Amino acid sequence: IGATVAKTAEHSSQSTEKAITKEVTILYGSQTGNSQGLAKKAGSTLEGKGFQVTVSAMSDFKPNNLKKVQNLLIIASTHGEGDPPDNALTFYEFLHGSRAPKLENLNFSILSLGDSSYEFFCQTGKDFDSRLEALGGTRLYPRFDCDLEYDDPAAEWLEGVLSSLKEGKSESAALVPASASVLKVSEPVYSRTNPFYAELLENTNLNGRGSNKETHHLELSLEGSGLTFEPGDSLGIFPQNDPALVDLLLQELPWNAEEKVAVKQGDIRPLHAALLSYYEITILTKPLLEKVSKLTNSKNLEDLLVSGNEGKVKDYLHGRDLLDLVRDFGPWGKTTFEFVSVLRKMPARLYSIASSLAANPDEVHLTIGAVRYEAHGRDRKGVCSIFTAERLLPGDTLPIYIQQNENFKLLRNPETPIIMVGPGTGVAPFRSFMQEREELGINSKSWLFFGDQHFTTDFLYQTEWQKWMKNGVLTKMDVAFSRDTDKKVYVQHRMIEHSKELFEWLEEGAAVYICGDEKHMAHDVHHTLLKIIAKEGDMSLKKAEEYLAEMQKQKRYQRDVY
Ligand code: 2AM
Repeated sequence: IGATVAKTAEHSSQSTEKAITKEVTILYGSQTGNSQGLAKKAGSTLEGKGFQVTVSAMSDFKPNNLKKVQNLLIIASTHGEGDPPDNALTFYEFLHGSRAPKLENLNFSILSLGDSSYEFFCQTGKDFDSRLEALGGTRLYPRFDCDLEYDDPAAEWLEGVLSSLKEGKSESAALVPASASVLKVSEPVYSRTNPFYAELLENTNLNGRGSNKETHHLELSLEGSGLTFEPGDSLGIFPQNDPALVDLLLQELPWNAEEKVAVKQGDIRPLHAALLSYYEITILTKPLLEKVSKLTNSKNLEDLLVSGNEGKVKDYLHGRDLLDLVRDFGPWGKTTFEFVSVLRKMPARLYSIASSLAANPDEVHLTIGAVRYEAHGRDRKGVCSIFTAERLLPGDTLPIYIQQNENFKLLRNPETPIIMVGPGTGVAPFRSFMQEREELGINSKSWLFFGDQHFTTDFLYQTEWQKWMKNGVLTKMDVAFSRDTDKKVYVQHRMIEHSKELFEWLEEGAAVYICGDEKHMAHDVHHTLLKIIAKEGDMSLKKAEEYLAEMQKQKRYQRDVY
């Protein structure tokens, strides 16, 4: 650095400041890849403006280097009940701990991603924001909290950050031509904001007759899209709402189904079409209730929203949809435009990909469990799972995109054994792993733990696992069918039964992958792993936690949970 400054100073002392490149560090904490995608995009934009940019997952960043950072941008999503994503945890804890450094020289700005239907909306971003301030940092630009539709606010935030950065000492940014066109070339043509319409090739129910479950295996064509993915990545689908629900909703509204609404500037659709495929109509949020309240004279809604009533609001939101809201407090708005103005755009649904591109070129396979339940006296259906299960036939097309997920990557080291825990649809990415390993001849040991309700009806992809057991692609398989006997057996019970061998694998450097339900399964499996490590490694629970944390650091403990 000294040399650069000296060299510049030779030309003219006045230009010294201009020539210093501003350094920007962008750290992301991402669970499903949204923050990661935004961070990379922000990185290229800033680089195009002449900044020297480092983009890194929080888990790959040495916290001790924080003191050297001049400008820090954090893009972080919130996960579960206000928790930081897995790859943000260590950094988050370091920063909030007593060993966090003073950061008086740091400029920072936070972009937080979240979902306003959760109570602790954008909590992780909020925590980083207040903590960095408390440590002495200066806010470069105010924090933006984004709801599911994050593209526009994220772009606006970056715009604001950029002008704040430029207002600083360095004007080098202005001297470098923008290279936006260069960036576009390197980005895939199809993305979340410009989805590819993929043709459905196959749609079958994997469960046998008499099962409580309906799990669909979908095969889609990627031909002509140029899209690629790796095992562990996810596929985003933009579904359509249930037409029967839309019809019921229209019956409650004073407008004709064909009446026009502007869903955004330059995009005018009939109300019916807008409700079917543009707006989210199955999830209620508190901000939505508040907006509706401003458009109606409903005393009941006003009463529900008085402060101190948070518990009641939460109860009301749970399991209800827009039809309930209209029936209970609506309709609202003088025009269709006002009516839809309170709604969120329908977000895409992400599914772990169940195939390998190497094994199935130009195709992507998914394993989707149909969601049906009853709430408040009415049958409810999962938007995307039922869209794909009930209304999609081979030959139909649907809008999709690839979501990279660097938190869940198949380690390709032929020395590293892998242990896969994936009950139910959680088994999807492991089919992708097996296909990839078979195709590329990756032959370290592998062990699958699978579970579901019944052996005869719910053993998803049974013949494929058996084939891989036979040809050695899969070394070991243990299954837990929870409703075949009086006593519940889950994957973690099988893990306990093989406690000694499992720990031996860990000691040999095995990587553990967990995919599926987070709240119950992944939580219980995590604690089972700790128990196994403590018992077999003859260590305290605290030491076992450190052991697992170290594995996580080495990317030997990866989770794709939902
Ligand atoms: P259950 O439905 O009989 O409770 C896939 O859904 C499998 O995961 C089912 O066999 C289901 O069992 C099981 N499961 C439910 N809760 C679980 C938990 N906390 N840990 C592991 N598996 C669980």
